[in-house]
Amino acid sequence: MGAYQPLHHQHSQKPSSTHHGRVALAWLFSAVLCLALLHLLCCSSRAARENVVFSPLLQYITSTYTKGRGSTSSCDYSEGQWVRAAGHARRYNGTECNVKDSENCVRNGRPDTDYLDWRWQPAAPGCQLPGFDAAAFLGAVRGEHVAFVGDSMARNQAESLVCLLGASFPYHLVYRDPQPGTRKFWRWAFPTHNVTVSVYWAPFLARATGRCDNYSLPYNSVHLDALADRWSADAGTMDVAVVSAGHWFWKPTVYYNGSDVLGTHLLPELNHTGIGFLSPYREAIRASIRRLASAGRARAVVVATFSPAHFEKAWDDPTTCARKLPYTEGEREVDATHAQL
Ligand SMILES: *[C@@H]1O[C@H](CO)[C@@H](O)[C@H](O)[C@H]1NC(C)=O
Ligand SMILES: *[C@@H]1O[C@H](CO)[C@@H](O)[C@H](O)[C@H]1NC(C)=O
Ligand SMILES: *[C@@H]1O[C@H](CO)[C@@H](O)[C@H](O)[C@H]1NC(C)=O
Ligand SMILES: *[C@@H]1O[C@H](CO)[C@@H](O)[C@H](O)[C@H]1NC(C)=O
Ligand SMILES: *[C@@H]1O[C@H](CO)[C@@H](O)[C@H](O)[C@H]1NC(C)=O
Repeated sequence: MGAYQPLHHQHSQKPSSTHHGRVALAWLFSAVLCLALLHLLCCSSRAARENVVFSPLLQYITSTYTKGRGSTSSCDYSEGQWVRAAGHARRYNGTECNVKDSENCVRNGRPDTDYLDWRWQPAAPGCQLPGFDAAAFLGAVRGEHVAFVGDSMARNQAESLVCLLGASFPYHLVYRDPQPGTRKFWRWAFPTHNVTVSVYWAPFLARATGRCDNYSLPYNSVHLDALADRWSADAGTMDVAVVSAGHWFWKPTVYYNGSDVLGTHLLPELNHTGIGFLSPYREAIRASIRRLASAGRARAVVVATFSPAHFEKAWDDPTTCARKLPYTEGEREVDATHAQL
């Protein structure tokens, strides 16, 4: 007990009666990451019909996350429940690996660890969510650049992946943005497999100024006709790109197309048309996919859609690490905004 080691597939234990989580819990990083990667599956059958050559990563995921050996039918992982599984999520030591301090409950003194003893049991018959296999993952992305693009959820997913891989393989930070305390552009290397993992902070994916640069400003200005410079310039180096954004779109924002104001969200005092956040979100994701597709290199693009926030309560609330059990059925509903995203 208490040892952190990469686990192999564990056989299921008896489901607990009540824990039916519709909302993935942010602290189960490995599960969140797996679910993000599983979005790849949505596109695999069509690509197969069109004889597209898959990346090794896509082949690995397609063969791992289907209904049993030899099957090609994919699983719906969104319906299921958390079941007790001793040690299942004890895959890395959170004090040692490189998660941002302000989001690291363990390093900030959380004493209990029972919340790591759960795994997700998909409801569909024949479907398991196998434990993350660092060697298989690195083998599947050998020589490649895996990039996470988006908001702090993208960064958290990148950190999670680095922690999962770093528990079994040596790695080092090869780049970080120079300002202390910021984690906008970081890159890690796994030399055994010549793999790099990087994060590009671009909370709107598109080019944005205002509050996202400077918290004393009241709102954001987002140019939907242009992608954020840094990730867009590097798009041609990305073999695997995870696009993960959403939380910023419903904040007060002016959306532009060139010099034309398309509309605003939550800024009636500026007297422009209110356009909400969904159509800008859709446009930013579509433009990102177009960019990655035209960059010619990315062979796997994952749209992670929307993830739960880092914190259930306020940022830095002392009780923010207090949850010990998965949500019970009906304990928490997905609100309307989140459901739309
Ligand atoms: C995690 O790492 C820290 C720092 O190296 C160490 O003190 C602690 O004992 C480790 N925890 C476990 C459960 O291995
Ligand atoms: C590592 O990967 C890069 C990018 O794919 C490639 O250019 C380089 O030759 C690889 N290096 C080794 C030692 O395999
Ligand atoms: C942030 O915005 C405030 C208000 O406009 C301004 O006074 C301050 O200089 C800005 N800070 C930076 C780092 O640009
Ligand atoms: C921006 O304007 C151009 C030129 O009129 C148009 O083709 C494009 O669809 C517009 N983009 C958005 C996001 O509205
Ligand atoms: C918005 O319209 C109101 C009412 O006509 C006007 O008083 C206000 O100055 C306008 N605000 C802007 C930013 O144009």
